[in-house]
Amino acid sequence: MRDLVVAMTGASGSVYAVRLVEVLIAAGRTVHLTISPAAVEVFKRELDLSLNLDKFDIQQILPRQDQIEHDEKLKLLKPSGGAGYAASSVFSDSEIFSGKLIYHHYRDYSAGIASGSFMTDGMVICPCSMGTLASIANGMSQNLIHRAADVHLKERRKLIVVPRETPLSVIALDNMKRLAEAGGIILPAMPGFYHEPKSIPDLVDFIVARICDQLGVKHELMSRWGDDTVNE
Ligand SMILES: Cc1cc2nc3c(=O)[nH]c(=O)nc-3n(C[C@H](O)[C@H](O)[C@H](O)COP(=O)(O)O)c2cc1C
Repeated sequence: MRDLVVAMTGASGSVYAVRLVEVLIAAGRTVHLTISPAAVEVFKRELDLSLNLDKFDIQQILPRQDQIEHDEKLKLLKPSGGAGYAASSVFSDSEIFSGKLIYHHYRDYSAGIASGSFMTDGMVICPCSMGTLASIANGMSQNLIHRAADVHLKERRKLIVVPRETPLSVIALDNMKRLAEAGGIILPAMPGFYHEPKSIPDLVDFIVARICDQLGVKHELMSRWGDDTVNE
């Protein structure tokens, strides 16, 4: 089992990113995380979480349970009837930090994930802005996120991008097509409703489950269509 790379960029949907990292770490995976400056702005607005890219700490994205209880925005992270994400709703407390988070500054091109010789099981950009998508689709490596994505494409490894934009311009559609042709997986943040979601976290888990499926990470986030059992 190799490490995974997660990048967070300045599209709406920071809640997906938080949940994804939590689920991957809870599943015992080592996650290399990098974050764009625009994501900092979105995290503040959407979740009232303050990220410091120069002095990063895991609690900046995985807040403690008591923080969640006392913050209206952070309650978005609280699944219906379950505990908050800091004490995962899908894994027991003892398992929650069985994986590891390794942070890389978005300007640090000396990070292992900037090189093809650093082996991974894949990379997810969640959420993925149209700007980051365009940079990758056109080979413009302007930060560590673009470079790591470029590396995943050239090494023919899994690259999953989770765009959040609507409607889509022809330019955005062209960039998505270009990226898909280069081997990327376009996984838009478009939750389904056939699993009868009861809360925002249920919608979030729909997308995170799809990402985990693509990565081959086992999860129990939701039951599968046509199957009464979970994750069989
Ligand atoms: C609150 C907020 C929400 C945004 N939502 C989106 C979005 O959903 N999709 C998108 O492509 N850009 C969105 N943007 C704009 C991007 O953040 C902006 O284009 C930025 O340059 C992207 O940089 P990055 O790709 O390096 O993160 C949003 C910006 C803000 C402040």
